[in-house]
Amino acid sequence: MKNKGIRYDWTNLRAEVVGSGQGLTPADLLDHRELARAAVEGFGERIASGEIGFPGLPSDPAPVRQVERYARGCRGRYRSILLLGIGGSALGPFALDAAVNGPRPFRRKKVPAELWVLDNVDPLVLGRGLEQLDPRRTLVLVITKSGSTAETMAQFLIVYDWLRKKVGTKKASQHVAAVTDPAKGDLLEIARSEGFELFFVPPNVGGRFSALSAVGLLPAALVGVNIKKLLAGAGAMVAACRQPDLSKNPALQAAVHQYLLHTRYGKNIQVIYCYSNALFPLAFWYKQLWAESLGKQFDRARREVFSGQTPVEALGATDQHSQSQLYMEGPRDKVVTFWEVEQDDTRLRIPKLFRQYSSTDYLGGHTLDELFHAEKFATELSLTEAGRPNCSFIFPRADEYSLGQYMMLAMFQTAYAGEFYNLNAFDQPGVELGKQLTYALLGRKGFDAERQRIAAYRQQKQALQSQ
Ligand code: PA5
Repeated sequence: MKNKGIRYDWTNLRAEVVGSGQGLTPADLLDHRELARAAVEGFGERIASGEIGFPGLPSDPAPVRQVERYARGCRGRYRSILLLGIGGSALGPFALDAAVNGPRPFRRKKVPAELWVLDNVDPLVLGRGLEQLDPRRTLVLVITKSGSTAETMAQFLIVYDWLRKKVGTKKASQHVAAVTDPAKGDLLEIARSEGFELFFVPPNVGGRFSALSAVGLLPAALVGVNIKKLLAGAGAMVAACRQPDLSKNPALQAAVHQYLLHTRYGKNIQVIYCYSNALFPLAFWYKQLWAESLGKQFDRARREVFSGQTPVEALGATDQHSQSQLYMEGPRDKVVTFWEVEQDDTRLRIPKLFRQYSSTDYLGGHTLDELFHAEKFATELSLTEAGRPNCSFIFPRADEYSLGQYMMLAMFQTAYAGEFYNLNAFDQPGVELGKQLTYALLGRKGFDAERQRIAAYRQQKQALQSQ
């Protein structure tokens, strides 16, 4: 069967549809045609020089071979895959599993093993998790590009200690696979000395751009996701996303649209309105990508810009009864991006019962899918009539090919948006301070200056509280 592609429908972002001052004019787009072309060229040079590596991931067969070989060897041995990681090392795998296998607790199909993503250090979750998992049937994936993230390393220390106590020191290392940078980081050394199976994230692929590297491929393959199809979808999208012509490049279009709506029309918030439970975790992946890449204090010229559009997630139809009121009548500071799955694999028909009641009569005979799509359409039309700009990404199915396509598109979209804002979309200096303060609080060596800052802050706070 020929793979149909995902589609981007931006009709309702046009001023002629949602009203002047609320949407994009032909002049806006004309103004940015050359800028868009320059962004493709500029970014293309960074890809060609090897500085940016995510577009090359679909065409590298080596990690696929390694991952598939390892996953084959694990078949039938493990009931649970316990992923330790955070941010870019966790959100992609979680999204892939939920989309392709179906969101828990109701899976689309029987999975070879269940994936448990521990992306937090809430002691309740890990504590109870370790009581409930069978260590003999658990494979632990420790994923951290830097090899030193506090949350992941703390989880690793607890889980490895648990494994050693439960299955013995000798066998414990066979229950662990690590994904990290090939050249540096403490996890690399630990993994080598303990003999863990090792997978690598290419140095030129940043954390939130790494879902299509071993970071996403390894957990995905272990839970039955077809990673070749995933990469085929991603690979097909690379060519489209490198087109210099704005009208032919969906990532470039989506980047220009959001950039203009944000900077010219005050749409400071982008709502991802996801009409699919299976795709909902992907919204969290996208939020990290968009927020961490574009939320920056300084641009490339070191001018203070405080840039960034805030991404938020909403689940259709659930949030029609929670958030839609705000999106319809609240501040005109939002643009809605719908996600819709054209055809899901369940055709559930609503039975014709209680026909004497008007609230049940009209429902009988329709599929639940029809109701779901009608709800999305109704929300789209209501927002449009209220002059609220909105666009849609339409996934033919929530399958590997579409996921690969969308992830690649979103990464290019983010990179191009970085070019328009003229900032570095690939760093995250704003999260560094929080990390350093945590190290200082827990006594890590070399963080004395931070400890002094903490003491001064506490003193000042105490003084204010006692006034
Ligand atoms: O995008 C990023 O670089 C970050 O969000 C990281 O993914 C996150 O901080 C986790 O880092 P690491 O994989 O080094 O543990």
